[in-house]
Amino acid sequence: MDRYVVFGNPVGHSKSPLIHQMFAEQTGEQLDYSAQLAPLEDFIGFAREFFQQGRGANVTVPFKEDAYRLADTLTARAERAGAVNTLSKLADGSLLGDNTDGAGLVRDLTVNAGLDLKGKRILLLGAGGAVRGALEPLLAERPASLIIANRTVEKAEMLAELFDDLGPVSASGFDWLCEPVDVIINATSASLSDDVPPIAGSLIEPGKTFCYDMMYAKEPTAFCRWATEHGAAVAMDGLGMLVEQAAEAFFLWRGVRPDSAPVLAELRRQLAQ
Ligand SMILES: NC(=O)c1ccc[n+]([C@@H]2O[C@H](COP(=O)([O-])OP(=O)(O)OC[C@H]3O[C@@H](n4cnc5c(N)ncnc54)[C@H](OP(=O)(O)O)[C@@H]3O)[C@@H](O)[C@H]2O)c1
Repeated sequence: MDRYVVFGNPVGHSKSPLIHQMFAEQTGEQLDYSAQLAPLEDFIGFAREFFQQGRGANVTVPFKEDAYRLADTLTARAERAGAVNTLSKLADGSLLGDNTDGAGLVRDLTVNAGLDLKGKRILLLGAGGAVRGALEPLLAERPASLIIANRTVEKAEMLAELFDDLGPVSASGFDWLCEPVDVIINATSASLSDDVPPIAGSLIEPGKTFCYDMMYAKEPTAFCRWATEHGAAVAMDGLGMLVEQAAEAFFLWRGVRPDSAPVLAELRRQLAQ
């Protein structure tokens, strides 16, 4: 049976095996997908060993940049992102590196939530790996503006410069902003400590602004609670992004696009338990 894995460290918490198992059942694809704890000191050797037999791998924290170096060729979006979350073994035995995180985010926003990003003013909070992966797919939706705001402003400035050939992107500190925007996407890890980046409530236009937290949890995240308190039209978490980035990887490997809706519903049900 074709073998696929998710590499991470830690990796025990990963929902990828469950998601891909559900995709395989749904599409009738025969494959074996498991989680593998890769060693911090030799990801590349460990992954090469797997690919003697294996067909594909997802890559999660902290190996996305190692996977970028491991890949023999890169898709344009992985090249831009500087990180790889999906590796595929090609017919000639070489490894193709892709990054499906940003596409997963955009699909969750545009298809699952029905949000048209064209002409919108978008504020992206954070300047880490997730933002880097999201910038090209977000700019491809042709927003009116995209501001990257980060605690360490220099990182936001560096990213804005790196992507400014793709659209109207600029950098900011958290407390420099006060005018309402249409969409706020939280890609900081502040929610992990039940915290919200120090941004003004006036960035939300009550009943209009759409808020999205890349993190997800059983209960609404700190950012989603903050958004609701300030009257956001929608406060949505990142569980759909997780499922959609997996669906993109599955499509890349198997050439079949799974139906993500029932998988997302099942994950949501399990998360609530
Ligand atoms: N749903 C999904 O499928 C999915 C996929 C990828 C990521 N994510 C989530 O997205 C988030 C970011 O991931 P990442 O890979 O980009 O992480 P990362 O590379 O470590 O970047 C973390 C970012 O958060 C900022 N930050 C950390 N603590 C903060 C705080 N207390 N207040 C304000 N800013 C803070 C950092 O700012 P500095 O630069 O100043 O340090 C940096 O910009 C995580 O919560 C992750 O779980 C979700």
